[in-house]
Amino acid sequence: MTIAVGIDIGGTGIKGALVDLGSGELRSERVKRATPAGGAPAAIVETAADILAELDAPAGAPVGVCFPAIVLAGRTMSAANVSDEWIGLEAESLFEAGLGRDIHFVNDADAAGVAEARYGAAAGQGGLVIMTTLGTGIGSAFLFDGALIPNSELGHLELDGADVESWASNVVREREELSFEDWAERLQRFYAHVEFLFSPELLVVGGGVSKHHDQFLPLLRLRTPIVPAVLRNNAGILGAAALAHRPEST
Ligand code: BGC
Repeated sequence: MTIAVGIDIGGTGIKGALVDLGSGELRSERVKRATPAGGAPAAIVETAADILAELDAPAGAPVGVCFPAIVLAGRTMSAANVSDEWIGLEAESLFEAGLGRDIHFVNDADAAGVAEARYGAAAGQGGLVIMTTLGTGIGSAFLFDGALIPNSELGHLELDGADVESWASNVVREREELSFEDWAERLQRFYAHVEFLFSPELLVVGGGVSKHHDQFLPLLRLRTPIVPAVLRNNAGILGAAALAHRPEST
C-alpha cells in the first residue's frame, strides 16, 4: 500500500489527509483549518505545516500540495482569491522549507482533475476531459488520455466582457441569490463556449455545489456529456497526493 499526503490550500480553508494511492481512499481523518486572514505566504505555509504535523505521516510518504494559482516550475504566477504576495513567488521552495520535506506543487483544479481521472467521474475516459470546479472562482483541468495539461485557467476566459468566474462562479450565484435556473443560463453560456473551443469527450463539474448537480446540470443543453465530480471536497487532496508519488524516484 502506498500512502501519500495531500494538502489542499483554498481561499477559505486548508485541508489535508493521508491517501491510499492504490484505492484513492483517505487513510486518515481530514484535518482542516481556516485559511489565515489575508492569505499571506508565511501564514499559509505555517498552517500547512501544522496540518502535516497533525497527520503524523509516515517518514518517506510523498507530499503533494495544491494551490489556487497558475503554477509554473514551482512558482505561483497569479493570485486570484489569495494575497497578491503570491505572484511570482517560489512557492514550492517556500513550502519545502516550511514543511521540512520535498513536495509536489500543483494548481488546485489540476489536482482535482487528476483525481477524477484516476479515481472518479472520468476514470477510463480517453481523449480530452475538461474538469471545472465551481467555487469562489472557477478552476479548470485539461486531461488528455488521463495526462494532465496544466494551468488551463478557464475561469479567466473573457466572455461577454469579463472573466467567466466573475459572473458564473458559485460564489456569484450565492451573492446575487440567483435561482439554479438563472445560474444555469450563465453556465450554459460558459460551457457552450468551452465545448465550441475544445470539443472535449467529457465535461466534469466539481466544487461543493456539485452535490446539487441535479438542480442545474439537467438544464444545460450541450452535445458533450456533462457529469458531476464524484470525489467532491477530497479531489484536491487526492490529486495532489497522487501527483506527488513518482514511482521512478522511490
Ligand atoms: C484561479 C485558479 C484556480 C481557481 C479555483 C481561479 O481564480 O485563477 O488558479 O484553480 O480559481 O480555485
